[in-house]
Amino acid sequence: MIRTIALLAVLALGGAGTVWAEEKVFQIDREKYPYYPSLIQWNKSGAEFTPPEVCGECHEKQYEEWTGSVHALAFKDPIYQGELNKAVKAVGHEISRQCEGCHSPAGMVTGEIKKPGLAGLSSMAINGVSCDICHSVSGTTHCETPSREPENGSFILTPGMDTEAGPVLVKRGPLEPFEGCGEDFHQCERSPLHLRADLCASCHQVYHYEAHFPLEATYLEWKHGPYAQRNILCQDCHMVDSETFLRTADTLEKPGREEYHHYFNGANFLLYFLAEQAAKKAGDEALAANVRHKYEMAIQRLQSAADLEIEPVYGNNGLVEAKVRVKNIRAGHNLPTSLTNVREMWLEVTIRDKGGNVLYSSGILDDQGHLPPAVRVFNSEGMGDDFHFAIDPWIVTAFSRHDTIPPKGFRDVYYPVNAPPGVDVVTIEARLRYRQADQGVAELLLAAVPEDMDLEAIYGIKQIPLLPIVDMVVRTADLKTAR
Ligand code: HEC
Ligand code: HEC
Ligand code: HEC
Ligand code: HEC
Ligand code: HEC
Repeated sequence: MIRTIALLAVLALGGAGTVWAEEKVFQIDREKYPYYPSLIQWNKSGAEFTPPEVCGECHEKQYEEWTGSVHALAFKDPIYQGELNKAVKAVGHEISRQCEGCHSPAGMVTGEIKKPGLAGLSSMAINGVSCDICHSVSGTTHCETPSREPENGSFILTPGMDTEAGPVLVKRGPLEPFEGCGEDFHQCERSPLHLRADLCASCHQVYHYEAHFPLEATYLEWKHGPYAQRNILCQDCHMVDSETFLRTADTLEKPGREEYHHYFNGANFLLYFLAEQAAKKAGDEALAANVRHKYEMAIQRLQSAADLEIEPVYGNNGLVEAKVRVKNIRAGHNLPTSLTNVREMWLEVTIRDKGGNVLYSSGILDDQGHLPPAVRVFNSEGMGDDFHFAIDPWIVTAFSRHDTIPPKGFRDVYYPVNAPPGVDVVTIEARLRYRQADQGVAELLLAAVPEDMDLEAIYGIKQIPLLPIVDMVVRTADLKTAR
């Protein structure tokens, strides 16, 4: 009897086998996602997208805050344009829709962006993640994507709708609609989504276009951590000024309603630095001051994200090691996050005797700006299908090493101390340093910018200088060599 059932089961499975063999882990529904590999959906109507300067006529404060933000620069960003250009050459424009879907969603869905570069594009396309992207979002499809997670722009854009009287614009946000909201320009709709991190999730989860591997997973890092459990959202740290961010991260209490600003400030000081050069070159002092402020905020965020603790480790014959603990104290996600296979956050450690003679050092850059081979760096290393090292997002389908620090978590690093006889105290200096990319990688990307982006004309850059580095934390400690 049992044997018959087993046999029937095998037959049944065998019969269905042909169907199952075709089934893949990541199913792609191209009707649902017509812009695949971007997962944006667009409810097309007579109501068109509105460029930011039009919104800015009535929403001056938000416009001023958003101007010069990383969202405003997301498409103009020369590092992005360099990589996009490489992507199009390697895998074709079809696939680069994935990139454009997050770096300039309107320019992608309307089909306006046909190739890398900025020439001839409308304000709506050039201005990347502008007002009318976020405030036209009417929903998400996070649970229906090929990975069943938010990825590659899994949101729905509905800038408005057709009515008998013609197209009407609808803008969604945190407010309860009231008489006169939007004046005669747009209707208002209260949207709970805008008070959730899900709004940010669709773009802050970057997945490989085919393998659906999370190249950037800031949202899930946040969701699976202590800030999400206390309802402290992306907005609560990135849409507020530096003081409010510090208070929120420390007290875990939400900012007041009046404390939100459209800064979207994170860690990318390099991009603000470039934007300031460009503004100065164009003679726009107000814009230069605006991005200068954002540059300073980014440095402040980086310099308050982490902390270091130094402790001695003793063996039978005295001091043998120095322990350096690296703590992620205020980033709501892992540190670093996002583009972890490109960003570099590393420890530079020097141990000296009383006379200042160096007994040991680690993590000092060479004169071409490269990290030494033996260095404690917190980031990840990508690999392609062949399991070999790779860096480009259309090749990387997994990480061979992923070593970032979870929110409120830490990593310990041990350094050997070999104090010569007669030395009773050693001084250890530890620095946690950060930069956007390896010198060689940055040079490669900036060299690949499309022809219509002349770095000298826009930014006044003739030669790529050594990339700036930010010291996030510096700590020193004197350690006794005898127990
Ligand atoms: C799901 C949305 C999404 C997709 C798809 C996407 N990106 Fe991005 N990209 C981002 C976000 C978010 C960041 C910011 C990460 C950070 O600051 O660490 C970013 C950052 C970058 C940067 C670094 C910019 C800088 O100034 O340091 C480059 C380069 C880049 N993306 C290129 C691409 C290319 C090329 C593609 C397509 C192959 C692509 N991106 C696809 C969201 C996306
Ligand atoms: C990346 C997404 C994003 C972009 C881009 C964006 N906003 Fe917002 N906006 C939000 C979120 C989220 C809120 C809700 C913030 C809060 O909790 O108060 C908001 C709130 C608002 C509000 C309600 C009042 C307030 O300030 O809280 C207005 C008005 C507004 N945005 C206008 C704009 C304009 C104008 C632009 C372009 C200059 C813009 N937004 C760009 C996400 C965005
Ligand atoms: C003609 C003036 C005008 C223009 C142009 C305009 N708005 Fe508004 N909008 C208003 C007014 C007035 C309110 C009421 C709240 C306020 O004063 O901030 C409002 C409210 C909002 C809100 C809050 C809605 C809510 O329910 O939370 C958002 C979001 C918003 N606008 C986005 C935009 C965006 C995006 C654009 C450009 C596409 C835009 N607005 C263009 C006048 C305008
Ligand atoms: C408790 C505060 C806090 C919360 C909540 C938070 N962040 Fe951050 N975020 C930071 C700090 C501090 C930094 C700068 C240090 C770093 O690079 O991680 C940062 C950096 C970033 C960066 C730049 C990373 C880089 O190195 O280029 C991005 C992108 C980002 N956050 C997005 C998000 C998103 C999306 C969310 C929500 C899912 C979020 N953050 C939630 C504090 C926060
Ligand atoms: C339509 C896609 C999109 C949405 C929605 C979006 N972002 Fe972004 N965001 C980007 C892209 C693309 C970049 C990086 C641009 C670049 O580096 O060239 C970015 C960059 C950032 C940065 C700067 C990171 C740095 O390195 O300094 C922060 C902070 C950030 N986003 C926060 C948010 C928050 C908070 C929300 C939700 C309220 C949000 N984003 C929603 C696409 C998006």
